[in-house]
Amino acid sequence: MALKITVIGTGYLGATHAAAMAELGFEVLGLDVVPEKIEMLKRGEVPMYEPGLEELLRKHVAGIEGSSGRLRFTMDWAEVGEFGDVHFVCVNTPQKHGEYACDMSYVDAAFESLAPHLHGPALVVGKSTVPVGSAERLAARLAELAPAGEDAELAWNPEFLREGFAVGDTLHPDRIVVGVRSERAEKLLREVYATPVTAGSPFVVTDFPTAELVKTSANSFLATKISFINAMAEVCEAADGDVVKLAEAIGHDERIGKKFLRAGIGFGGGCLPKDIRAFMARAGELGADQALTFLREIDSINMRQRGQMVELTREALGGGSFLGKRVAVLGAAFKPDSDDVRDSPALNVAGQIHLQGGQVTVYDPKGMDNARRLFPTLAYADSAIEAVRGADVVLHLTEWREFRELDPAVLGEAVTTRLVLDGRNALDPEAWRRAGWTYRAMGRPTA
Ligand code: UDX
Repeated sequence: MALKITVIGTGYLGATHAAAMAELGFEVLGLDVVPEKIEMLKRGEVPMYEPGLEELLRKHVAGIEGSSGRLRFTMDWAEVGEFGDVHFVCVNTPQKHGEYACDMSYVDAAFESLAPHLHGPALVVGKSTVPVGSAERLAARLAELAPAGEDAELAWNPEFLREGFAVGDTLHPDRIVVGVRSERAEKLLREVYATPVTAGSPFVVTDFPTAELVKTSANSFLATKISFINAMAEVCEAADGDVVKLAEAIGHDERIGKKFLRAGIGFGGGCLPKDIRAFMARAGELGADQALTFLREIDSINMRQRGQMVELTREALGGGSFLGKRVAVLGAAFKPDSDDVRDSPALNVAGQIHLQGGQVTVYDPKGMDNARRLFPTLAYADSAIEAVRGADVVLHLTEWREFRELDPAVLGEAVTTRLVLDGRNALDPEAWRRAGWTYRAMGRPTA
C-alpha cells in the first residue's frame, strides 16, 4: 500500500512539499498551527506568491472540483499521528531576536506536539534548516515522548528549494540528502523519493550531522560566491574595471562557473543571511568558530553593498542631501518571482534613502502588500511608469523580467531626469543610453 505522508508546517517549504508529495501519488495530510493558513489551503489558495504552486495545490486538495483529493489539511495533532507513516517537519527556524543563533522553538514545539501521538511505526523526517547537532537531540526527545518507542524513528532530509522555483526544485531536486540511522529509514525515504530518483536525482545517504551541515554549508558557499563578486565590484569601482565582464570571463572556467556571480546590492531573503549567521553561532558553540570567521566578512561585504547603492545614488544626484529629491525604486522583493521582502536589499536601500529625506516611490510586481506592511511610510505606485513619474533618479533594485522589458523611451517621457542606476546589473545599458538615459551600474564605473 502507498505510504501516507504528513507535512507539519505549511509555509513556503511545507506547502510546496505537501503539494509535491500529492503530485508524486501519496495521500498527504498537512498541519499548521495558524488557522487562517489552513483555511486558505483548504480552499486551494497559497498564502504567498510562488509560480505554479497554487495550480499544483488545486490539482490535489480534497473538495476542489476535479482534484485528485489526495491532499487534506488539519490542525489536529492526533489525526496527524494516526494518519502518517512518514511525517515531514517543515516549520521555520528564524534568527533569534538580538543574536545570531537560530530560534529552534517552532521545531521543538512541533516535536513535542507530534511525538505523544505516535502509537505505531513512524518515520519523522526533519526538513527545517537547523544547527548541527539538533537531529541527535531531537531523536532522543522522540524516543522519550513517543508511545511507539523505538518504532518512532528520526531522519534528517534538508531542503534546497529556491523561492520562485520551489515547485520545480521540489519535484526535480538536484540532489536528495538523507541523514539516517537505520536501513529501515533509508528504505522508507527511497520509497518516498522513488520518482525523482528514477528520473536521475542523486540520492546521498549520510549520518545526522553531515545531513544538517550539507544545508548550511551549501548556503554559505552560495553567499560566499555572491560576496566574492561584490568584493570584485568594489575593486572594479576603484580601478575603473567592469565587474560584469570580469564575471563572464572567470565564469568560463568550469571550476568557477557562471552562476551566482551577478554583482549588485547583494543577497537577502529568509535564508542566506540568517543561515550564515546561525552557522557562525553554532560553530562558536562547538569551539570551531575560527573555521567560519570568513563568514563574518561575507556578511559585512553583503551588507556594505546596500550602503554603497545609497552612496552611488547620492553622488549621481550631485552629492549632499536627499532632501527634496524624488527617487523611484523598481523592486521591493528580495529577488524576482517572489513576493518575499524579508531582509530585502531593495527595500533596505529604499528605506535608507527615505529616512535621509528622499521622496521614495516603490513599485514591485508582486511584493507590494508585504512591502507596505513592513515599510508603511514609503510611497507606493501601482506600476513602474507611475513610480518613475517626476523622478530625479530611477533605481533598479530587483531584477524582475518586467523591468528588463520596460521601454526606456516611454519611461524617459515620465521622469524629470533620465538617470538610471542599476543595482542588479541586469538592464541593457545600450538600450537605455540610446533612449537618452545616463546609465550607471555597481562595479562598472566606465562601462
Ligand atoms: C537560497 C538557496 O539558493 C536555496 O538553495 C536554499 O534552500 C534557500 O536559500 P533563496 O533564498 O530562494 O534560496 O534565494 P537565492 O536564489 O539563492 O538568492 C538569494 C539572494 O542572492 C537574492 O537576494 C538574490 O537576488 C541574490 N543573488 C543571487 C545575487 O545577488 N547575485 C547572484 O548572482 C545570485
